[in-house]
Amino acid sequence: MNANNCFHPIATTFVQPTCLSLLLVGICLSATSAGLARTEPANGFHNGEVSERVKWLDTDGHLINAHDGGILFADGKYYWYGMELRPFMATNTLAGGQKTTTGVVMYSSTNLFDWKREGLILSCSTDPNSLLKGPMRFERPKIIFNDKTKKYVMWFHYVGYPGDHGQDIGTADAGVAVSDTINGRYTFLGIQRPISDKGEVKDCTLFKDDDGSGYFIYDRVVPTSDPLTGKMDKKRSLHIVKLSDDFLTCTKTYKEIENSARREAPVMIKRNGRYFLITSGMSGWAYNRSSYFQTTNLFGAYELMGDPCTGTNTATTYDSQGTHAFAVEGQKDRFIFISERHYTPCMTDSSYIFWPVVFTTPTNLHLPYLPEWDAEHWPTEK
Ligand code: GAL
Repeated sequence: MNANNCFHPIATTFVQPTCLSLLLVGICLSATSAGLARTEPANGFHNGEVSERVKWLDTDGHLINAHDGGILFADGKYYWYGMELRPFMATNTLAGGQKTTTGVVMYSSTNLFDWKREGLILSCSTDPNSLLKGPMRFERPKIIFNDKTKKYVMWFHYVGYPGDHGQDIGTADAGVAVSDTINGRYTFLGIQRPISDKGEVKDCTLFKDDDGSGYFIYDRVVPTSDPLTGKMDKKRSLHIVKLSDDFLTCTKTYKEIENSARREAPVMIKRNGRYFLITSGMSGWAYNRSSYFQTTNLFGAYELMGDPCTGTNTATTYDSQGTHAFAVEGQKDRFIFISERHYTPCMTDSSYIFWPVVFTTPTNLHLPYLPEWDAEHWPTEK
């Protein structure tokens, strides 16, 4: 089955073809036709110039529609998963395309360029009593393998029906799902709030350490009151929580990461015993500057290192926001950082940017932006 996208307006799911929705189809079509088509045979990453959004098609010729997810290597293949977005609004609001009525989708590849759609691995429901009733959001889903239980475990920022961000339980929680196989149907286990119910869950990621332990890293939002005026506000900062042995719940071991106020889109990489946490700023879907931390102890001091991007468009992370990083199989110290060039008028037309991670010293890394490149010819930018 092909996911709906802006290149296939006939297959879209919106109900009323209002003037505004027809206008949006027009915007999507004209916007996408301005992008570059992927060249065949696939032989590299085509990020495009900073002003471009490059179409990336799956092996059936449809747009890859797996947003803000990640890539995991298992059983000889890479698996790319993410939220399957709707092409554009279903009601008269531009927010509609940021939701899903289908679920989390997965693709597989042996070369990182040709991706075959495996199908939905966690589906929305049409049952009004289900926690998975769509439209909703499985925001920033991430998957890690548990060596003890031999299960794949997915965590995400859960936003229940109708998928509008909120503060209440049911709109700002951690969702958990589990599967015996990487590309099987994941069983949804429910929602929870790590640390305490007072803390809302927003952008998040998972990290698995070399010793097999797992961690949930998230933007935790807690209500605060100004000691002078008593005025209520929200405090937002990144927290890391150790997962239980089966990765299905959180333990009481956690830490608030210093200097991480209003940082989003966390992405963790480990190299030579050192952890690097790359984050975005907080400006909704608008692009902003990235910055990263480094530490040798997940529950110790984190050092703020500054912007990992190099070159001319660093203030906007080259018009993108980070989503995940993964190790290139069989190549020591080679990681690829993924970001997305979000396009709010038609979220399915957001493009995927693949960056080589270049370690410049034991404590520093760079993300050089390359319009075209491939993992066989690793850049050595210093
Ligand atoms: C972004 C965040 C996304 C999503 C969006 C909604 O900053 O990284 O995950 O929550 O805001 O506006």
